[in-house]
Amino acid sequence: MSNLTSEISKRRTFAIISHPDAGKTTLTEKLLLFGGAIHVAGAVKSNKIRKTATSDWMEIEKQRGISVATSVMGFNYGDYKINILDTPGHQDFAEDTYRTLTAVDSVIIVVDVAKGVEQQTRKLMEVCRMRNTPVIIFVNKLDREGRDPFDILDELESELKINVRPLSWPINIGAKFKGVYNIYEHGLDLFQPDKQKVTERVEIKDLNDPLVNETIGETDANKLREDLELVEGVYPEFDVNTYLDGKVAPVFFGSALNTFGVKELLDCFVRIAPSPRPIQAEERVVNPEEEAFSGFVFKIHANMDPNHRSCIAFVKVCSGVFRRNANYKHMRSGKLMKFSAPTAFMAQKKDVVDEAYPGDIIGIPDTGNFKIGDTLTEGEDLHYKGLPSFSPEMFKYIENSDPMKTKQLNKGVEQLMDEGVAQLFVNQFNGRKIIGTVGQLQFEVIQYRLLHEYGAQCRWEPLRLYKACWIESDDEAALKAFKARKHQFMAVDRDGRDVFLADSGYVLQMAQSDFPKIKFHFTSEF
Ligand code: G4P
Repeated sequence: MSNLTSEISKRRTFAIISHPDAGKTTLTEKLLLFGGAIHVAGAVKSNKIRKTATSDWMEIEKQRGISVATSVMGFNYGDYKINILDTPGHQDFAEDTYRTLTAVDSVIIVVDVAKGVEQQTRKLMEVCRMRNTPVIIFVNKLDREGRDPFDILDELESELKINVRPLSWPINIGAKFKGVYNIYEHGLDLFQPDKQKVTERVEIKDLNDPLVNETIGETDANKLREDLELVEGVYPEFDVNTYLDGKVAPVFFGSALNTFGVKELLDCFVRIAPSPRPIQAEERVVNPEEEAFSGFVFKIHANMDPNHRSCIAFVKVCSGVFRRNANYKHMRSGKLMKFSAPTAFMAQKKDVVDEAYPGDIIGIPDTGNFKIGDTLTEGEDLHYKGLPSFSPEMFKYIENSDPMKTKQLNKGVEQLMDEGVAQLFVNQFNGRKIIGTVGQLQFEVIQYRLLHEYGAQCRWEPLRLYKACWIESDDEAALKAFKARKHQFMAVDRDGRDVFLADSGYVLQMAQSDFPKIKFHFTSEF
């Protein structure tokens, strides 16, 4: 095996996603403990922005500092090099999470056993499904009272629209929780509520082994055998390739807080989760083993230091070896660029690196050259496809409050949009600029950053809109007629494409039925 191939096969790059409070931070921390990247529990600060802090932007800034540090957490586990990509917990930053999902090779979903599938998990799963990303599900908080495991599995299937296959099975739940039977490795893992201690494993031949009765008692042993019979009857045997195709999600049960079931999850994960795979660029499929480097920017993080307006662009290496100080082509501008201080993220530290391999994430200091989705190559014309922008959900007019700073405001808005903070539309009727977001917080972020990074002042004016959707038609005349009829509600996006601003669901529905020749799109790629 060449060095490149062997480096690629070691890489596991993934994200943990969940609804806030299901246990993502706790699970991340326990994985880092196993990887030796941290030594005590509590070392990982949650980057989640608490609901109570919604209007306290200073607090968010502080927390954003933490989230830079924890954006990517790399560590070694056995022969594997693992990269966990962190995603913001707050739903107002959901777009950030969607984009992060374009840079991972697989995903672990955390679900709270009492709450089941919650709204944000459903949305994130949709993105995984769009990209056929393999997912493993961890049902968490088994030490608390919760729902029947069969119920949870049914709900996972119907709500997340994916087949599931339990690879471990809980023995009771809540106060009576005794542990899990590890279907994948055929062992009984006994639960001891202890935040630091690792699971105790009882090796058994099969469930009829007398050790089972001895260890968990006859009643629970019988129930376990019954449950397992049902499991084996209902769910087809686990098949790794079906998982890799994103068609079935293996499920583990455990308690992240008690470090229970976490090592088992990790051991199975490194074995079955994919290393970087070929990626479809616009021009062709790119194989990670190809010698020439290529990668794309999936996230841009503003610097915390307001005195110089630099950012970090996060690049996922897709093929070849990335080398410090080599010349790479920035596809959008056509310019050659050299990076003297690329950083890698290991064990929660940022260090300058000389080389990086497919699956790795590197941070490149940037002063406004990069846009989300930009591709870097050794010269070949390649464009990686990002994730489309989704139609925003909240809209406001942005107005300049300081006429002396118009230039600064325009520049600031442009750059923030390049970072993917929100979407900008220009109303064709009145020429006013509209900012579209998925949550209220983003308006605060924009206002604060325009002031602190660009010295520009903006104010928001209300705009009641239901949705902005991209429109097109093969029929020029129909398009013209639509635009004439809706001229007050037409805008263009930053690429000059037509966008219809519907002020209610009813209006949108009527427009769709009155203009059958017009296609309405709710994501920016069509
Ligand atoms: P998140 O990142 O998905 O938002 O969740 P996080 O890990 O912060 O966990 C949310 C809460 O659930 C935390 O409690 C955490 O301690 C708790 N938790 C996580 N895993 C388990 C588990 O297996 N069992 C039980 N019983 N609780 C669990 P908190 O009170 O909100 O925070 P903290 O004060 O304990 O940090």
